[in-house]
Amino acid sequence: MTGTQPAAQEIDTTRPHPARVYDWFLGGKDNYPVDEQLGRQIAAIDGGAPRAARANRAFMRRATRALAEKSGIRQFLDIGTGIPTEPNLHQIAQSVAPDARVVYVDNDPIVLAHANALLRGTPEGVTEYVQADARDPRAILEQAARVLDFDRPVALSLIALLHFVADEDGAHELVATLLDALAPGSCLVLSTMTADFEPENVHRGIAAYAAGGVTLVARSQAEVGVFFEGLRLLEPGIVSVADWRPEDAPDGDGPISLYGGVGLK
Ligand SMILES: C[S@@+](CC[C@H](N)C(=O)[O-])C[C@H]1O[C@@H](n2cnc3c(N)ncnc32)[C@H](O)[C@@H]1O
Repeated sequence: MTGTQPAAQEIDTTRPHPARVYDWFLGGKDNYPVDEQLGRQIAAIDGGAPRAARANRAFMRRATRALAEKSGIRQFLDIGTGIPTEPNLHQIAQSVAPDARVVYVDNDPIVLAHANALLRGTPEGVTEYVQADARDPRAILEQAARVLDFDRPVALSLIALLHFVADEDGAHELVATLLDALAPGSCLVLSTMTADFEPENVHRGIAAYAAGGVTLVARSQAEVGVFFEGLRLLEPGIVSVADWRPEDAPDGDGPISLYGGVGLK
């Protein structure tokens, strides 16, 4: 494991953290009362929040499998990994291609604390965890290059990450810097929050996160499309994550306020 963040960075249990609130939505145990409190508050505003977390996770699984199976991608750079939740991305990729190489990146110390679960892969493949901030993409590329060959295609996953990075905080610059480093045949897998379907609930949710000290940004479909400029969007384009090549029956009713898409460089 490598890191650009000071190793001494401690888990702060006095305020909610996105990775831990998301873990609570997914029914995980790696969260604190302060995370549960915000999770319950969000769920009271939008009863579909846990369902959205599950739908997002399912999008990650389908997109990763599609890229490993159909596009022959063997290298994955997953930024904003989150607390390990089985199956993790490397388990999906390595179930298709045991030699797949995966680099995980997150900036939350709780993810670092649990990163060992992300490092248990196949003997033929490689998994690595880098503790770094997405807003420092050059540092990520430098460290990921120890495991990934950037002359060959890489799937860059920014799944439920960019709604924590505002445009003025460098969201577009980080995506552009990362994409620029990728070889032709690489892909961008992205999901991010939107207020297009349920504006009132989503804006109330954003306010609750803000009160907890967490910045959250909703983007329209056109705004999400900007991240894919210069790429060829794979079918079905930018849609609610639940509608991206669905395989199972819908998990409940109502819209999922996260757009997802996959673009090919
Ligand atoms: C909602 S979770 C998504 C986890 C996983 N990608 C998924 O979709 O299942 C968002 C993750 O992004 C991480 N994150 C937020 N801002 C970040 C940043 N600036 N740099 C790196 N990671 C960040 C959080 O710590 C959290 O683990």
